[in-house]
Amino acid sequence: MSNILAIESSCDETAVAVLSGDRLLSSVISSQIDMHRKYGGVMPEIASRLHVENIGVCLKEAIGKSGLSFGDMNAFAVTRGPGLAGCLHVGVQAAKTLSMLYGKPLIAVHHLAGHIYANEYVGELKFPLLAVVVSGGNSELVYMPRHMEFEVLGATRDDAVGECYDKVARVLGLPYPGGLPIDQKAKFGRHTYDLPLPLRAKGTYDFSYSGLKTAVINLVHKIESRGEKVNVEDMCRSFQDTAIEMIVSHAIAAAKDKDVRQIVLSGGVSANSYLRLEIERRLLDSGIEVLLPPLWCTTDNAAMIAKVASHLYDMKFFAPLDIAPDPNWKIEDWRKLSL
Ligand code: KG4
Repeated sequence: MSNILAIESSCDETAVAVLSGDRLLSSVISSQIDMHRKYGGVMPEIASRLHVENIGVCLKEAIGKSGLSFGDMNAFAVTRGPGLAGCLHVGVQAAKTLSMLYGKPLIAVHHLAGHIYANEYVGELKFPLLAVVVSGGNSELVYMPRHMEFEVLGATRDDAVGECYDKVARVLGLPYPGGLPIDQKAKFGRHTYDLPLPLRAKGTYDFSYSGLKTAVINLVHKIESRGEKVNVEDMCRSFQDTAIEMIVSHAIAAAKDKDVRQIVLSGGVSANSYLRLEIERRLLDSGIEVLLPPLWCTTDNAAMIAKVASHLYDMKFFAPLDIAPDPNWKIEDWRKLSL
């Protein structure tokens, strides 16, 4: 049984977790959201500085709660990418230092693999599967024929869906991050505004969110320039129906084409109540199982990094100590540790 301490610092959460075999002993998350809220998005320089301030405290708290010591760890794991360069650097330096100090292997984990494997805390992954990875930085459909094998079938060509939610929320005067406020308002609205839903081009599962974002912004400005008020709840509903339909229709088409056993949701946007309901409803009686992550696992955390690391530990897939973060690391290239 392996004891693994994992660190996540790719964006605006500093997180540390300790996993012992299948038991998650601790998972500490220090979120910077309040600091970034006033800028309406994550400020990379501020984020990396806060990681430097928080990492020591998070490490101490996570190891304290686990009841184990750093010396009890069999390996130290870290998110190597993708993410913000300065932020990733803090986690990678901390993990390397621990690894060197305690003479234990270092494990480099891909952030999106973490989001997918978070689901192992609630159920079994059944292959072949389709992972729908939707967050503030990603919108990807990832096909997995077996453990730790990834093929990106479709990705966003411009904005990620979470980014689109955040921009639309800003133009509607809703707080950052915009996903949850839009989700909540949409429940009280009606689909009254006509917004474009880009059709899926034959042979591709790629997404595009910039057209939808621009359409909402232009429509809001047009209504306001007429001296009228936007019905925020109706706009949220119209936007959400469209944004989620793109994910659901692409995911179902890809899942059927690839004849998968399971669809697995992951990433911050997988907390969306309509996405969860709609994908389950549309797949009822399809023979395709839907695995939904617990809400605590949809946002960035280190427990999910520890989960991937436990597989890599079993595979004895360790990273050299001179490894550098890779902000643009592709999930298919997770074995490639050089830049
Ligand atoms: O995975 P995540 O915590 O961070 C990264 O992007 O790495 O995802 C954050 C994103 C934000 O854009 C936020 O607005 C979105 O997830 N989000 C939601 C919901 N909750 C969070 N989007 C739609 N509906 C939600 N309920």
